[in-house]
Amino acid sequence: MDQYVVFGNPIGHSKSPLIQGLFAEQTGQDMAYSTLLAPLDDFSNCALGFFKVGRGANVTVPFKEQALQLCDSLTPRARRAGAVNTLSKLADDTLQGDNTDGAGLVRDLTVNAGLALGGKRILILGAGGAVRGVLEPILALRPQSLVIANRTVEKAERLAQEFAELGPVAASGFAWLQEPVDLIINATAASLAGELPPIADSLVEPGRTVCYDMMYGKEPTPFCRWASELGAAQVLDGLGMLVEQAAEAFHGWRGVRPQSAPVLAELRRQLAAS
Ligand code: ATR
Repeated sequence: MDQYVVFGNPIGHSKSPLIQGLFAEQTGQDMAYSTLLAPLDDFSNCALGFFKVGRGANVTVPFKEQALQLCDSLTPRARRAGAVNTLSKLADDTLQGDNTDGAGLVRDLTVNAGLALGGKRILILGAGGAVRGVLEPILALRPQSLVIANRTVEKAERLAQEFAELGPVAASGFAWLQEPVDLIINATAASLAGELPPIADSLVEPGRTVCYDMMYGKEPTPFCRWASELGAAQVLDGLGMLVEQAAEAFHGWRGVRPQSAPVLAELRRQLAAS
């Protein structure tokens, strides 16, 4: 049976085995998928050891940049993201790195939430690895503008410069923004600390602005609560992105696109019951 894993540290709470297991069952693919706790100081030997037999892997925190170094080849989107979340053993026994995070987010926004983002004003909060991974596919939707706002403004400026050739992208501090936008994506780690980036309430136009938090939890995140209180048109968390990036990886490995909706519903049910 073909072997797959997700590498991370910690990895115990990963939902990837559940998601990929449901995809395999749904599509009748004969494969095994489990977690693999990689040592913090020895990811590469751990990964190379697994790939003596393994066919593919997902990679999560904190190994996505190290995974990129390990690959014999990269997809263009992984190179642009500067990080790899999906590894595949190719027919010639070489290791290919891909990044499905951006495609997962865009699919959740456009297919699941039904948003048309062409010509729209988009604001992304944060300028870390999670943002770098999604800028290219978001700019490919041809928004009117994409502003990256970050606590450390220089990091937002560097990202904006790097991606400027791909579309109308600008950098900002949180406090400088006042005008309402069509979509706000929270990609900061603030929710982990139970915090909210200090942005103006006026950014949300009731009934029009859509708010998306890449984080998720049993309870709504502080950002999702803030957006709901202000009357955002839609308030979405990152569980859909998690399932969609997994579906994109599964498609790359097995050549079959699984249905994500029933898997997302099952995850949502389990999260509510946890
Ligand atoms: P990731 O891979 O999840 O993007 P990261 O690269 O460490 O993780 O980036 C974390 C992001 O969350 C950064 O944009 C960080 O802001 P700084 O660049 O100023 O550090 C942001 N962040 C973390 N905690 C935050 C908080 N409490 N409020 C606002 N932004 C926060």
